[in-house]
Amino acid sequence: MEDKIFNKDLEDIKDESLRQRALKEIEKKKVLVESDYYRPKFHIAPHTGLLNDPNGFIYSKGEYNLFYQWDPFSTKHGLKYWYYVKSKDLVNWQEQGIGMAPSRWYETHGCYSGSAIEHEGEIKVFYTGNVKDSEGNRETYQCSGTVKKDGTITKSPFNPLIKNQPEGYTRHFRDPKVFKKDKLWYMVIGTQTNELKGRVLLYRSEDLIKWNLIGEVTGSCINGLGEMGYMFECPDLFNLSGKDVLIACPQGMKPEGRLYNNRYQSGYFVGKVDYSTGAMNHGEFVELDRGFEFYAPQTTEDEKGRRILIGWMGMPEEEDMPTVEYGWIHMLTLPRVLELKEKKIYQNPPEELKALRKEILFNKGLKLKEEKYILPISEDVFELELLAMTRGCGEFVLKLRENNEGTQFTAIIFDAKNGILTLDRDNSGEALNGKRSVKLNNEEEIKLRIYSDTSSMEIFVNDGEEVFTSRIFPSKESKRISIEAKEGQLEINELIIWKI
Ligand code: FRU
Repeated sequence: MEDKIFNKDLEDIKDESLRQRALKEIEKKKVLVESDYYRPKFHIAPHTGLLNDPNGFIYSKGEYNLFYQWDPFSTKHGLKYWYYVKSKDLVNWQEQGIGMAPSRWYETHGCYSGSAIEHEGEIKVFYTGNVKDSEGNRETYQCSGTVKKDGTITKSPFNPLIKNQPEGYTRHFRDPKVFKKDKLWYMVIGTQTNELKGRVLLYRSEDLIKWNLIGEVTGSCINGLGEMGYMFECPDLFNLSGKDVLIACPQGMKPEGRLYNNRYQSGYFVGKVDYSTGAMNHGEFVELDRGFEFYAPQTTEDEKGRRILIGWMGMPEEEDMPTVEYGWIHMLTLPRVLELKEKKIYQNPPEELKALRKEILFNKGLKLKEEKYILPISEDVFELELLAMTRGCGEFVLKLRENNEGTQFTAIIFDAKNGILTLDRDNSGEALNGKRSVKLNNEEEIKLRIYSDTSSMEIFVNDGEEVFTSRIFPSKESKRISIEAKEGQLEINELIIWKI
């Protein structure tokens, strides 16, 4: 007993010291980090070090509470904390400081990803305690904590709640997402079988402490699915318009034409979960985003009944970015509202984001016939809305962040003959390149809503049919916008650009 008390004191001291070290790191790097042109103007980014998954996203008592995975000390994936921000309107985020630091024996190598629920007037979080021994072997513990008024998280005395992965699975067992259904608590969790197949498991609890395994929800080589890789990370399960939606991040899928071209995937299944066995009867896996940097998204439902999603605008193992020399890397995506139409999820920016709009820089319709039009404006941080009739047009190219020589640009190309939309960042600037494409439903017209920050682009297509999210690193002088109708005539009914 005395030993336990003694250890607890030591852990409290460690906790305080980890927090202090991180705060000192912020102070130390502040000037450097803030001197970086690529710091976003309207996205959530870490004060120092590395940001990855959104965690503990929950709407509670009029506020959106959001944490993120944070390594304060390096731009590689190291010791993970949870950093806390809050917003009333999804636009202005208030800093709450460090939510939790990895101070306990069951999380020595990081407080890994997890989720939040509201219970008895409090926000409770569930997360994975990650422990590695000197040989790199991993232990994995599912834990919980309670968010206090001062923004810090008190860890549960019952931690770890789940000490081991079930039989038949490896220690890649993490990222609990907890929710309530019919007065019972459920948890989906990502894992890997001993045969190295990615799976999502469902657990149930009556008291949020004792958790019982129900079964496999879905995964690689089951439920009618083919080979979907060796690990499923960051699952999220919720009801949308009467159907069950499971989001998951499979690792190890092979590219198939335009699909699955990023290192890892983030996508969803639509169907119905049998809560007595855990099994989900579902359709095909659909990627949530068509860009390069989008991973580990998480959702919450707000008081308007909207299902809001925020993702990590990054990709595991992608660490070669110019921001590294300024002491930070990665950011979160803008929030998106999810809607289910038939079996497809549509994603749109919430109404609230219109508050980002400052003055209108351009607002005009255009008719272009095999010509390139350079807009009489120069801007890097903006929102652009375009509605074009493409019936008479073979292909058009919208270039953003273009330099005056026309040699640097990020291109959005619509091949209207085949309905294929491509994001091309081969000439976008430093570090990153490549192309990503998707086939759209409609070739006759196209609608784009684009958010451009200093080093990112989020492109919403046809009222949320598709989204492309990517980082780009153009020079700060590259602020030109141009449109070219390559074949035939392009009728642009609407082109509005707002300064943000
Ligand atoms: C996904 C992930 C999670 C894990 C976390 C660690 O990006 O690998 O599975 O909990 O990041 O930071």
